[in-house]
Amino acid sequence: MKFKQNIRGNVALGVNPLGCKQEVLNQIDYVKSKGHYDAPKKVLIIGASSSYGLATRISLAFGAGADTIGVSFEKGPKSERNLGTAGWYNNIAFREAAEKEGLVAKNFVTDAFSHTAKQEVINYIKNEFGGKVDLVVYSLASGRRTDPDTGETYTSSIKAIGDKVVGPNINMQKEEFFTDTLEPATEQEIADTVKVMGGEDWEIWMKALKEADVLSDGVLTTNYSYLGTELNRPYYGGGTLGQAKADCDVKADNINKLLADINGKAQIVVATAVTTKASSVIPFFIVYCIGLYKVMSEKGTHETPIMHQDRIYREMIYGDKPEYDDEGRLRPDSWELDSDTQAETEELIMKLNEDNFNTDMTAYDLFYKEFSNLSGFMVDNYVEEDITIDELKSWEY
Ligand code: NAI
Repeated sequence: MKFKQNIRGNVALGVNPLGCKQEVLNQIDYVKSKGHYDAPKKVLIIGASSSYGLATRISLAFGAGADTIGVSFEKGPKSERNLGTAGWYNNIAFREAAEKEGLVAKNFVTDAFSHTAKQEVINYIKNEFGGKVDLVVYSLASGRRTDPDTGETYTSSIKAIGDKVVGPNINMQKEEFFTDTLEPATEQEIADTVKVMGGEDWEIWMKALKEADVLSDGVLTTNYSYLGTELNRPYYGGGTLGQAKADCDVKADNINKLLADINGKAQIVVATAVTTKASSVIPFFIVYCIGLYKVMSEKGTHETPIMHQDRIYREMIYGDKPEYDDEGRLRPDSWELDSDTQAETEELIMKLNEDNFNTDMTAYDLFYKEFSNLSGFMVDNYVEEDITIDELKSWEY
């Protein structure tokens, strides 16, 4: 069977299952090359199948020897034309590699927003995972959420607040640079985005886990935020997504109170801009990234999700180089926010136009490769193999 890369706008539709497997193995090799570090051994990751959640899982399993439970929402193969999602194959590749090393790697493919998902995970922790977890990572990114109590479904919007934003954007399918407009959100759209991407579900998870008595004394829970810079404030920090991230700060305070009697902590981690399924569809963001990555690559500070997450857990959270801001948030994004980096990025992106955005002047090729890697294409060390749809269907997550 031939696997074909298929991009619509900036959304990847095609997938190469064997490429996804190789990409997971490449990330495992990266972590192993850094050696062992000490960190919790029983970890739950909500949103574990791609980008930041997957990278966190790989770092903790292969860097610190952790047993992991991963929750994600992915689709398996149905036919040659419908091979499912990359995260489905990432889950399988991760489990196989972890089990080879004698680690527990349990995958739940279910709607994390539901009460059933929480109950299933709690039952598993109690009955088969040793009874407690030491670390809960919340790395969900979703466009929709059904409230488990009311059954109402909310949709998030990526919109500005107040004034509309006009600026350059890129369409990777057509390799086009064009002027895009982001309309201001209505009050309802802001509230719905907070409902989907804010911290409510994170708090519900932590309450359910605490009530079920499956959290260890001293448990840590992390949640990935993005604050960005002046260059993307109009459409990110100052827009609907910024409101959702601000809600996570509020929910972190609630969770800190909830966990006080078991010496637990909720930690907001302000992560750096990386190429993911979620970030590729944020208007204007690719333009920022191709400028930023060019500057950071030249300074030796550009990171992929695995490099960033491995540094966060190995060197910052469980190492001796944490950097916190005044609000107590962990700031691994300091490399992105470095003032020279930002000044040079601004200078570069101001010069971009339809003739030069995809030349050596920028990191367009790097962004495109990282984007392709997410679906198993352009993966380093990939060797083409023959595989049938029936073989793919027989892979278990
Ligand atoms: P992603 O789209 O690569 O991964 C999202 C994960 O959530 C996947 O495992 C997916 O299966 C899971 N998921 C989605 N809906 C689900 C549901 N209903 N039930 C169970 N699982 C579900 O996202 P990415 O980019 O790794 O984002 C993770 C977090 O990191 C988000 O909070 C995002 O805002 C944050 N972040 C991302 C940055 C970026 O540049 N991409 C920068 C800083 C923070």
